[in-house]
Amino acid sequence: MEERFALFGDIIHSERDRTFKEFRDSYLMIRNGRVEKITKERPEGVEVHDYRGMLIIPGLIDMHLHAPQYQYAGLFMDEELLDWLNHHTFPEEGKYADIEYAERAYGIFTEDIVKSETTRFSLFATIHEDASLLLARMLEDSGLAGYIGKVNMDRNSPDYLKEDTSESIRRTLSFIEEMKDFKNVMPIITPRFIPSCSNRLLEALSNISREMHIPVQSHLDENLSEIEWVRELVPESRNYADAYAHFHLLGEEKTIMAHVVWPGEDEYPLLKNKNVFVAHSPSSNSNLSSGIAPVRKMLEAGINIGLATDLAGGSSMSMLKMLTHAIEVSKLYYRLKDESAQPLTFREAFYIATRMAGTFFGKVGAFDEDFDADVIVLDTSSIHTTLYDELSLSERLELYSYRASGRPVKAKFVKGRKVL
Ligand code: GUN
Ligand code: FE
Repeated sequence: MEERFALFGDIIHSERDRTFKEFRDSYLMIRNGRVEKITKERPEGVEVHDYRGMLIIPGLIDMHLHAPQYQYAGLFMDEELLDWLNHHTFPEEGKYADIEYAERAYGIFTEDIVKSETTRFSLFATIHEDASLLLARMLEDSGLAGYIGKVNMDRNSPDYLKEDTSESIRRTLSFIEEMKDFKNVMPIITPRFIPSCSNRLLEALSNISREMHIPVQSHLDENLSEIEWVRELVPESRNYADAYAHFHLLGEEKTIMAHVVWPGEDEYPLLKNKNVFVAHSPSSNSNLSSGIAPVRKMLEAGINIGLATDLAGGSSMSMLKMLTHAIEVSKLYYRLKDESAQPLTFREAFYIATRMAGTFFGKVGAFDEDFDADVIVLDTSSIHTTLYDELSLSERLELYSYRASGRPVKAKFVKGRKVL
């Protein structure tokens, strides 16, 4: 049966040329979960959700986050990556062996991400199959969409968070099998990073990915000590990206690499040619003193980019806040490191976090005809300024992102289904 309805309000999205397009007091028509059109005329005979005066925008895409780290988001920011992992991350992730703890913690996570600005995600769970499946089920039931990875770790990890290699492979296959009837939440192959995975495990994961056409996510070039460690672990590779390529884990299937703060000159063409999506995580890269990713240079090299919270390296789940962080750090990069790398503008940051990241998921991230109807509604009326009535829709969105991001959204639709 055909399902058709409309959302009324102030509609805005990014065009292909990266500019904003605004439709004041208009109707976003949705048919069978997809965008039909945007029109000024009130449609006949369909239900209209009235969001007069509110902003209707594409849902934001969080290209990389760690669900099990949400409980300590906003804590433990005084160390760099490798110490932070050992002292805080691994002990917390170890708790997810206990399914009751997982149920409580993932319940909180799911409740909060439903209220957030995020409609799509690619996230890491932990090594634990049962807890990861529980999270997958909670997210599937929530109506949100995206990828979830059971994490693989079989070396350089504490005993309580280390898998036997064969077990890791077996559990990955079983995790994928258990998710075969899911509609919105899909499995993704998730070697934590090179230091946590033996050569045999990396090879097996690559085989699973290629045989079953399952995408891959991992971490790349985040921290200088990490990069040095990878150089020692895979001496035959030319660089860190090449180490993933060496194990056929770079762009054989759709691939997300988180961070990429320190790409070498010879890594740019590799990332571009392999069609890798970089998950730029500006808040995390500041919190863990990792550095500033050269986003402008990666964009100019033609590399796909999405924005990411990297919870709990990043302390907030708000993707609107991430837009402003990305802009702020791009200005520091420009001023302190390379004045040829122009800072990001607000419209570019929004484009990256919606339309550009959306291409990873299909026809997602904008209101073009036939795109998945992933929509959030923002009540911007609380913004306190004498300028309110003079603002364009994009200025209202910009002001809201800088001042008020992180508030629950007013309504949310994913593939046309109301989830909040
Ligand atoms: N590299 C390997 N694991 C992690 C993690 O959990 N967070 C971040 N930020 N980097 C990582
Ligand atoms: Fe991460």
